Amino acid sequence: MPKPVVLITGANGEIGRALLRRLHDEGHYRVVTVDLTPLPEKHRPYCLETYAGNIMDRYLLDQIAAHHEIEVVFHLAALLSTRGERDPELAHQVNVEGTLHLLRVATNQSGRLGRAVRFVFPSSIAVYGLPTLEEKARVGRIEEEEWNLPITMYGCNKLYCEQLGRYFTLHYRQLGALATAARLDFRALRFPGLISAETVPTGGTSDFGPEMLHAAARGDRYTCFVGPDAKIPFMAMPDAIDSLLGVLEAERATLRHTVYNVGAFSASAREIADRVARSFPAAQVEYVPDPVRAKIVDSWPEDVDDTRAREDWGWRPAYDLERAFTEYLVPSIAKRYEGAPRG
Ligand code: SER
Repeated sequence: MPKPVVLITGANGEIGRALLRRLHDEGHYRVVTVDLTPLPEKHRPYCLETYAGNIMDRYLLDQIAAHHEIEVVFHLAALLSTRGERDPELAHQVNVEGTLHLLRVATNQSGRLGRAVRFVFPSSIAVYGLPTLEEKARVGRIEEEEWNLPITMYGCNKLYCEQLGRYFTLHYRQLGALATAARLDFRALRFPGLISAETVPTGGTSDFGPEMLHAAARGDRYTCFVGPDAKIPFMAMPDAIDSLLGVLEAERATLRHTVYNVGAFSASAREIADRVARSFPAAQVEYVPDPVRAKIVDSWPEDVDDTRAREDWGWRPAYDLERAFTEYLVPSIAKRYEGAPRG
């Protein structure tokens, strides 16, 4: 039996690169990728095939599906929250219409294979919208159904796409003859801000965490676009990849929900700056809050309640803030830049 084929969209993004490496190391799947920009030469050996193109291009997606028996989709391609506010219509096109194309392709593929393609979708804390800092503090660890009132186009897009995925799994073409077995099997995770040692995100609003760390490791001064008390949940990239694979591999029968919060640790900008300064004592951070980006971060919860994920498919993060720095971020980043970390 050849190994099953996984399609990764947005493979050149932060999560994509890390996922690609992990799938290659584990060796259980053959990987096909699509991204707007060509995958760098060094990552190509990890893939069965790579496509450079737009997920809005239906012809390209149909061509990919015709050439490969795709059994799993990680649909990672998206315009993040700050970028989305610069061009909300474009964000809607990429984040919603692009997802719709992928859901259609995966559903058709399920029909061809005669079994449900598993479709894993990274959603976000951006689906939440707390109205005030008092309410944010009162709520603390937010549950999935609370405050689903996003203030960004990206958050609206993710919230709606969670529903689209549920709809495609349970009800798509309910007037037609689509057999239950031919539907897809959609699973979404609501990620906190992600911090990777390998890459810096672009266009997000949780970016102050990773940007602060990478600037310190490079020896650059960092101007933080939120105030020191701005607090949201974060997660180290290896945990994000673990959670994607964890929810992918969970038996359908154990999943009581379509959408799961996944948490690791919660930290304010000041707490991250303090932790960065312990490893990079020369780090310099000044706070010059951008009113819009700071407001977006204030609308996001300070932490997530991930009880459902823990109960249904055994989610456990490996890294809290301290361990993320000592065992993952600092050692890996030290190799990447010419910094002089001290523990
Ligand atoms: N990291 C994303 C962003 O900042 C949130 O999911 O837009």
